[in-house]
Amino acid sequence: MEAPIRAREALGFILFSLLFSICRSSSLNHLLISNAERRIDLSSHIVKVYLTLKVENAGSTPTSEVFLSFPPTQVDHLATVEALVTKGKRKKTTLVRLDVKPTELPDAPNDAKYFAIYLENPLKSGESTTLEVLYLLTHSQEPFPAEIAQSESQLVYYRDSALILSPYHIKQQTTFIKTPSTKVESFTRVEPSNRAGTEIKYGPYEDHPPYSFSPILIHFENNSPFAVVEELVREVEISHWGNLQVTEQYTLVHAGARHKGVFSRVDFQSRPTLNGASSLRYLLARLPPRVHSVYYRDEIGNISSSHLRTDSRKSELEIEPRYPLFGGWKATFVIGYGLPLQDFLFETSDDRRYLNFTFGCPLLETVVDKLTIKVVLPEGSKDPSAVVPFPVEQHLETKYSYLDVVGRTVVVMEKKNLVPTHNSHFQVYYTFKPIFMLAEPLMLASAFFLFFVACVAYLHIDLSIRK
Ligand SMILES: *[C@@H]1O[C@H](CO)[C@@H](O)[C@H](O)[C@H]1NC(C)=O
Ligand SMILES: *[C@@H]1O[C@H](CO)[C@@H](O)[C@H](O)[C@H]1NC(C)=O
Repeated sequence: MEAPIRAREALGFILFSLLFSICRSSSLNHLLISNAERRIDLSSHIVKVYLTLKVENAGSTPTSEVFLSFPPTQVDHLATVEALVTKGKRKKTTLVRLDVKPTELPDAPNDAKYFAIYLENPLKSGESTTLEVLYLLTHSQEPFPAEIAQSESQLVYYRDSALILSPYHIKQQTTFIKTPSTKVESFTRVEPSNRAGTEIKYGPYEDHPPYSFSPILIHFENNSPFAVVEELVREVEISHWGNLQVTEQYTLVHAGARHKGVFSRVDFQSRPTLNGASSLRYLLARLPPRVHSVYYRDEIGNISSSHLRTDSRKSELEIEPRYPLFGGWKATFVIGYGLPLQDFLFETSDDRRYLNFTFGCPLLETVVDKLTIKVVLPEGSKDPSAVVPFPVEQHLETKYSYLDVVGRTVVVMEKKNLVPTHNSHFQVYYTFKPIFMLAEPLMLASAFFLFFVACVAYLHIDLSIRK
């Protein structure tokens, strides 16, 4: 099922690049890029692309938007796009984050997708500015061969363009591609291009018109385990009695080349670097400091082979699945922990309360295909609202647990295609009347009281039939 999709994608990529050279948009030509440098880091399964663009306003009107363009095949795998601008001169430079939003342009050639970078101050005619752009791509390295035996290395394909796809004219550009090791089977040559060690250099290329595209294919060894969480459900339950309880349910898959043949634990344990080089042996979860009551279990039960290291700034949980994961293998497990509430729950000046917690997935170098965060508010909470630094889908649910009468409001947030840069803070605001905290103890107390009254009554009633 996956192979035809990939073939179709590849075909789409080629068709797209052909069409791109035919149709060229005519607008936007008041800006130009005098120098562009791109660094593509392929060392893990998450592709990291750093772009440094020197943008010049060659038109006569000031502009405050700079557009980035992507082929549609890449946009589907684009997890995040960030842009920074360098401010100040020489030694006193600081980086300022700019707003970046997906956008549409009317005359987009062949489904090109755009992101607009909004500059703080409009770029006047004749001025130039340097932008630093970072974007991350997931599921963009295709294992080839698609199946490998335990003792084989994992080889992958990466497709891109030797020329930076841009709606602007680029005067000079160079691309550097970093591979995880020196083992590169092949790469498309687009002169001048050469390879030295773990780096492939494309360019410098001079004077390329807007939407220039030159497809390249790189075939190289990547033994980093392709840790993909197909689904992660994180439940964060607030208890005003001082605890924040977090429960995380993972469906983890090794998305690299499929394992072929039988798994030999003897081979694996005697020479782990040769046997199962790309297997997933352990995972590292970065948890907040002061974490307590940590557990880790799978379908079979509690797994004790986990190590927790804590210091004042963070806690690291190293977890080892029951068996190493090879390509195509899955594991489902649950991690749970408690946190002191005062580290995460605060009050606003207008008497509302808010939770300040991290979004994303605590596992390092992991892609999450679908994440659901459920924040369970205490019973009696009102008017919840969530503030997340990027668009997410939101809705409310109700959850009942012991002694609940009206149920707890649950703020549910969902997002697809996440990478570690999404591990930023989000807030959930709500109002709460402290009187509600007494509801449960009062209920318990009255239940005991009634029970006690019943006992007393029972002891005093003479039920005997003798007179
Ligand atoms: C799971 O195992 C760990 C380590 O052996 C232990 O500390 C913990 O109490 C166990 N948890 C449960 C729920 O059995
Ligand atoms: C949330 O916590 C982070 C880290 O402690 C902090 O930098 C941020 O300012 C907090 N946000 C709010 C709204 O309190």
